[in-house]
Amino acid sequence: MRILLVGGGGREHALAWKLRQSAHCHTLYAAPGNAGIAELAECVPIAPKAIPELVRFAQQNAIEFVMVGPEAPLIGGVADAMREANIPCFGPSRAAAQLEGSKAFAKQLMAQTNTPTAPFAVFDDPDAARAYLKERFLERPCVVKADGEALGKGVFVCETLRDALDAVEFLMVERGLGEAGARIVIEDRLYGREMSLLCLTDGQTAQPMPPVRDYKRALDGDRGPNTGGMGCYTPLPDATPELINAAMRQIVRPVINAMAQRGTPYQGVLYAGLILQDQQPYTLEFNCRFGDPETQVLMPLLESDLVELATAVVAGKLHETPMRFSQRAAMCVVLASGGYPGEYRTGLPIEGLEQARAQQDVLIFHAGTRAENGRIVTAGGRVLNIVGLGDTLSQARENAYRALQHIHFEGMHYREDIAL
Ligand code: GLY
Repeated sequence: MRILLVGGGGREHALAWKLRQSAHCHTLYAAPGNAGIAELAECVPIAPKAIPELVRFAQQNAIEFVMVGPEAPLIGGVADAMREANIPCFGPSRAAAQLEGSKAFAKQLMAQTNTPTAPFAVFDDPDAARAYLKERFLERPCVVKADGEALGKGVFVCETLRDALDAVEFLMVERGLGEAGARIVIEDRLYGREMSLLCLTDGQTAQPMPPVRDYKRALDGDRGPNTGGMGCYTPLPDATPELINAAMRQIVRPVINAMAQRGTPYQGVLYAGLILQDQQPYTLEFNCRFGDPETQVLMPLLESDLVELATAVVAGKLHETPMRFSQRAAMCVVLASGGYPGEYRTGLPIEGLEQARAQQDVLIFHAGTRAENGRIVTAGGRVLNIVGLGDTLSQARENAYRALQHIHFEGMHYREDIAL
């Protein structure tokens, strides 16, 4: 099968690594890929959001299957465009990707399906939003969210009424995130440990992957600004089978059924961002894609053939294709550029990749890297994902942290407390 993978981060390197292990994958292209993916696939310089160019490339190169990593092309309708061109594509339609593309849509669907989530209200008018805040959140925290896609920057956890009013000003009045903030969601703040529950679904059947815990803050001890994710691990000691069953029964399946009933069936990965409060899973958000860096720990543990699973999803035959995972542990540490998630330099040479990769039970997935004059250099905020595997989480942790000691680039920083 000739496969096109859309994206160029650590998630896509992990997907490319897994796709390449399938006997069904004989040619793999990546758009745009990165220096690590280039060892597994032919990289083509097409941006993930350039949907007409992606379709043209797929048609001209007899692509038989498309796998999409990031949310932006899915929210923009890449799956619909590929299907119109008769090219099977793994990922939800534009209408179904609204579960990530619009926070208001997702919350309204949760309310309609009685999915456990924080109480909320949706606003198009800043005066009404301010009045609601003054009435309900005079003395307690809340969360203000931009409705639209905002590259992870649209969520404001507000400790005080002042913070919340500032968030409304920034989003709705100043339009600090453009049209993404024209509509907002205000919700009660929930407290507890978070987990990412990624499920494969063909629109009817849904199969959960092992839950993963993601570290979003830049610094140890969950301090510092939010990032795209600084590391993660699985399995989670607090994700009992009962808890996963409850999440599937109360959250994932009702939402998938509701999407089918409204004529916008959901196919692909449904990623439920959950928080555990009083042993009960509540939904914080849905994402319409594989998580990053969650995928970097899930793919090494996936024992089933990814091409078989993905084609079963697209064919509506997931019930015939069980998904199996190893019982081992995996953890991922992200090596980031100095200054990330703020400003950072790129083009800095990366040393020690080969030595790190030679370690046992270690995988290295590139994120922001490129090849330049025969060397690998930094090309983004999150640069590398160091994945450690082991029979226990502490072994996995030891393997990842030992391997990353070999790697160096100027300004490199990482969290030391992932999976601690
Ligand atoms: N790890 C967070 C995300 O993929 O959105």
